[in-house]
Amino acid sequence: MGKDKISDLPGVGPAIAEKLEDAGYSDMMSIAVSSPKELSDVADLGETTAAKIIQAARKTADVGNFETGAVLLERRSQIGHITTGSSNFNELLGGSGFESQAIIELFGEFGSGKTQIAHQMCVNVQLEKEKGGLESHVIYIDTENTFRPERIKQMAEAYELDADEVLNKIHVARAYNSSHQMLLVDKAKELSKEFSVRLLVVDSLTSHFRAEYIGRGALADRQQK
Ligand SMILES: Nc1ncnc2c1ncn2[C@@H]1O[C@H](COP(=O)(O)OP(=O)(O)OP(=O)(O)O)[C@@H](O)[C@H]1O
Ligand SMILES: [Mg+2]
Repeated sequence: MGKDKISDLPGVGPAIAEKLEDAGYSDMMSIAVSSPKELSDVADLGETTAAKIIQAARKTADVGNFETGAVLLERRSQIGHITTGSSNFNELLGGSGFESQAIIELFGEFGSGKTQIAHQMCVNVQLEKEKGGLESHVIYIDTENTFRPERIKQMAEAYELDADEVLNKIHVARAYNSSHQMLLVDKAKELSKEFSVRLLVVDSLTSHFRAEYIGRGALADRQQK
């Protein structure tokens, strides 16, 4: 999939390819699964042209095909687990903690410990496999300015890990609004090509969207994002 360049698609010249790449559409799959409206907005195209580009990308990308159970089983064998540090909490999650290749949503009222758990997972994912980690880097998108390296230091020291090493493997970015947050997700994709990243934290996923799309009238727009 990676070897097909998006500039080879009919209707995509160098200028459009650049706009698409800047907006994070750097491979066939990302274009194949986008909508004509999205694509026309980011690359200043007519929706008909955008639809044609998407059709062409769908033919090139291996999208929407059926897969055998055996292939899915093989993929599931790649799933890793990250210990929460608490055997009871791990038990609630099926035995070994948080699964990789999954989206996990933590919800609870203010002060219930969501941010603390996120911090703990940033440390735990770095543990050796035998200790319940995945020996990987972390990307942390912080929308509420609540990431605290001091707290990571305490948690790392509790495991007798080198706090600086742990902090060096956590890549933190502050998101200032919802579009910046979406941009950071694209940057996260880039970063994960450079480092082995098995955990991406977004704390919180919804706060900017909730603040920017106010009232029922904006609900549809908010849910499209
Ligand atoms: N360094 C620390 N050591 C021990 N407990 C802490 C520390 N820092 C924060 N806490 C406690 O952890 C609790 C959970 O706070 P946390 O910020 O994780 O909540 P939250 O669910 O993220 O809340 P919000 O919805 O406001 O973001 C708080 O009651 C806080 O007192
Ligand atoms: Mg919080």
